[in-house]
Amino acid sequence: MANNDLMATDHPGAIRIQRRPDGVALVILDHPSKPVNTISISLLREVEAKVEPLLGDPEVKALVLVSAKKDSFVAGADLDVLDRTDSAAEISSLSTDGNRLLSRLADSPKPVVAAVHGAALGGGLEVALACHYILASDHPATVLGQAEVMLGLLPAGGGTQRLVRRVGLIQGLPLLLTGKRVQARRAYRLGLVDALTTPGGISETGARAALALAAGTLSRRRRRRSWPEKLAALAPVREMIINKARQQVLAQTRGNYPAPLKILECVQTGLKKGLAAGLKLESSYFGELAVGPVSRNLVRLFHAMNAAKKQTLAQPPQEVRRLAVLGGGFMGAGIASVSVGLGPVTVRDLDPAVLARCAREVEGGLSKQRRAGSITKLERDRRWSRLHLTTSAQDLAGAELVIEAVFEDLALKQRVLAECEELISPQAVFASNTSALPIGQIAARAARPERVVGMHYFSPVPKMPLLEIVVPDAAAEWAVATALRFGQRQGKTVILVKDRPGFYTSRILGPYMNEALILLAEGARIETLDRVMRDFGFPVGPMTLLDEVGLDVVAHVSRDLGRAFAARGVEPNPGLIKMVEAGYQGRKNNRGFYKYPAKDGKKQPNTRVYHYFSQEGRHEFTPADIAERLALLMVNEAALCLQEGVIGSPRTGDLGAILGLGFPPFRGGPFRYLDAAQPDKVVARMEQLMIKCGPRFQPAPLLKDHAKSGRGFYA
Ligand code: NAI
Repeated sequence: MANNDLMATDHPGAIRIQRRPDGVALVILDHPSKPVNTISISLLREVEAKVEPLLGDPEVKALVLVSAKKDSFVAGADLDVLDRTDSAAEISSLSTDGNRLLSRLADSPKPVVAAVHGAALGGGLEVALACHYILASDHPATVLGQAEVMLGLLPAGGGTQRLVRRVGLIQGLPLLLTGKRVQARRAYRLGLVDALTTPGGISETGARAALALAAGTLSRRRRRRSWPEKLAALAPVREMIINKARQQVLAQTRGNYPAPLKILECVQTGLKKGLAAGLKLESSYFGELAVGPVSRNLVRLFHAMNAAKKQTLAQPPQEVRRLAVLGGGFMGAGIASVSVGLGPVTVRDLDPAVLARCAREVEGGLSKQRRAGSITKLERDRRWSRLHLTTSAQDLAGAELVIEAVFEDLALKQRVLAECEELISPQAVFASNTSALPIGQIAARAARPERVVGMHYFSPVPKMPLLEIVVPDAAAEWAVATALRFGQRQGKTVILVKDRPGFYTSRILGPYMNEALILLAEGARIETLDRVMRDFGFPVGPMTLLDEVGLDVVAHVSRDLGRAFAARGVEPNPGLIKMVEAGYQGRKNNRGFYKYPAKDGKKQPNTRVYHYFSQEGRHEFTPADIAERLALLMVNEAALCLQEGVIGSPRTGDLGAILGLGFPPFRGGPFRYLDAAQPDKVVARMEQLMIKCGPRFQPAPLLKDHAKSGRGFYA
């Protein structure tokens, strides 16, 4: 919803001032060329030139900050500023500058009201926090959060200071340390927001509040603090809470992410030594973090995800008004869940009990979104009414896109495709969610193979951000464009990959998993392998992942990959095959590398499985040895994929590995990892490992080229 009363007739900059006859000055944020407002150097200059004078102007009784953008207050800081310099001091001084201006607002005797409709994130929330009163629209688009930590940064506009002062330590720390966003109503309960209103006329409501504040007939809301919150204000308790938080951060990040620790230090300093000392430290750490490798990689990831959202192909997509999903099982239900927001969805399964489960799944997802405040009750009901469940193939007619998620069986997938082709229009696209079957083979008997593509979702679908679109050689560009557009509308980050064995993500995961099993055969312990790779930065270790994915599934995929890459000596791991033959399927049948159920929440390794791999006793490996062997095989396979055109760019490869496999985001993905480790050094190390461990460590020719030329993958 745009603020029509704030529309500009000309574009004098990103800030317009509207002086009202009642003495309120509206400070209207409206970037002239961007769809959202961001905080930039030029904006700070405009604040100096246009807003600072108002504070001393006797005609002005109060100020209201409001945005003229549709559903957006201020989206955060303009990250391009950070890309332009490698000087920590320069970046710190930007924060110091910004903080000086925000402190001017905060210290002003005239009331300053933030009238927030839409996203107030990062620097946007800090601007609001510097105001005396925050009014927010009770609308799903209004979300508030200090998202900086997700970019490896800290809130450098007073966020580490003013947020905890506003909502208390206990409620403030999680917001600062996780970057979590909260809806307006939750923000009100937290005490972050002083009052809620409707989005229409928010500037008018803001002006009335500002005048009342000036007249002394309104004051900031004082939320009643709970006992724990009151205790947390005592210095010894405060120190205890911060120390505990520090321990939790270290346990979760394993020391790989510096930003949350710096945030804690700023909070601690500010509460101990005062606001000015806290702000000073904040600015200094901001520069340090911004030029560090972790933040650089996280910011690049953010840019890559944004670019993927806007990716288009030369041919336009077909409009998809109705989606059909074949198979309402685990994946089908997930796909339906993320699609009912876009239009009608027909789910077909042969089993009515599966359809009932699918309905519960979709309903559960919608209720969760409703509870979180991200959709209204009306929207929930509308989405729910769009789900059509059926056992009849006839009901597929009229769908412009069909996504199949039936059992992983080539003949079955070919059969459902043939059945569909009789019913759907020639312009409709057929996509398979197969994990590993070649799309070209599924389309082998199709009447129109050019409209068959792969849409490889990751489980659980509503949670996992990646969608791998698999493009067979015969695919028409309009069909790929249709799948791409639909995936983007579902909110997924989409990568396009060629239809080759294992596509991209499974292909690079294969050698990594296999190496873990080889190390097991050499005498490594299950829990050591997991611990080392978690320390490296993966969210779960390889042995846990094997159990979660299912040993039978992994064995199946590794047989396929073994056949495809036999010439390279790739073969399924014999120990794994023996385990599967003995009935081990992992977590789903409670028989895997760990014992299930876990005791007191802690999984115990199942040492009985060692004999499937070797009769040798267990012994210690250095963490570096394990991490290096596993990581090098994964990144080398990524380089092979790039060389073979499976992925089109290092950026695609990095996005896919991070979002699909949990490759440590702070390392930036396989190609950033290779660049940081330097291709010539990687090649030298792999050649040593080739002698020690075997030909699987043969470096990819493309990697060798980079080693020779001295160029990184990112020029
Ligand atoms: P599932 O077993 O939960 O669901 C398959 C469903 O297909 C069943 O409900 C079955 O009744 C239905 N079905 C069988 N024949 C049918 C037909 N002719 N018409 C309509 N429905 C039919 O399996 P899941 O896990 O959902 O997997 C589905 C596909 O997704 C497989 O190809 C799998 O490889 C792939 N996949 C699975 C992932 C996972 O983590 N489970 C991840 C990515 C892809």
